[in-house]
Amino acid sequence: MTGYRIRSLKSDEMGQLTELRTAFMQDPVGTNLEFVPDAQPTLRWQEYVRKHLEEDPRQVLVADDGKRLVGYLLYKTRSDFPITRRYPYATISDIYVMPGYRRRGMATGLMETCLRHLREAGVTHVRIRVLAGNEPATSLYKKFGFLTHELIMELELSS
Ligand SMILES: CC(C)(COP(=O)(O)OP(=O)(O)OC[C@H]1O[C@@H](n2cnc3c(N)ncnc32)[C@H](O)[C@@H]1OP(=O)(O)O)[C@@H](O)C(=O)NCCC(=O)NCCS
Repeated sequence: MTGYRIRSLKSDEMGQLTELRTAFMQDPVGTNLEFVPDAQPTLRWQEYVRKHLEEDPRQVLVADDGKRLVGYLLYKTRSDFPITRRYPYATISDIYVMPGYRRRGMATGLMETCLRHLREAGVTHVRIRVLAGNEPATSLYKKFGFLTHELIMELELSS
């Protein structure tokens, strides 16, 4: 990956990040079709991102090509799950790279930075939910050593 920088989001870039998130929500491979793209109001999502930033700005990573943001990764070092777990884990909720910038190592750079931060924070496990047919993302995660931990099964009763 050359000519790109992985860094935390700056406070005046929330609009650009929101555009990337909207594109992610409309991506035919990456997005769960159960989500209606514009059903979650933008302001509520931006508030969610601001909480990540307040907690630790490193949790909102962007890929910057010098002119604009072309990808992002959102993660949480600690999940807010109310039941105590035997071991806590971090979660990566979003990873997205604009179509014209794919296969250039951008997602790899975002993942490497995220995993480095998590190791530095003493986190021992990290999870990502991914659609079964999302081959690009699944291959990316396998490359980093992720293993399938849990399967979500669904039956469509109308069929
Ligand atoms: C998944 C995604 C983030 C990958 O971004 P990227 O910048 O193209 O990824 P990289 O260039 O860093 O590729 C790293 C590895 O991922 C895998 N990969 C990426 N794109 C792939 C594709 N189209 N088919 C198969 N494997 C792919 C490969 O293993 C690749 O390594 P290689 O180039 O040495 O073969 C990007 O395709 C994307 O934004 N998809 C839509 C959103 C999405 O699905 N997000 C994940 C939600 S769980």
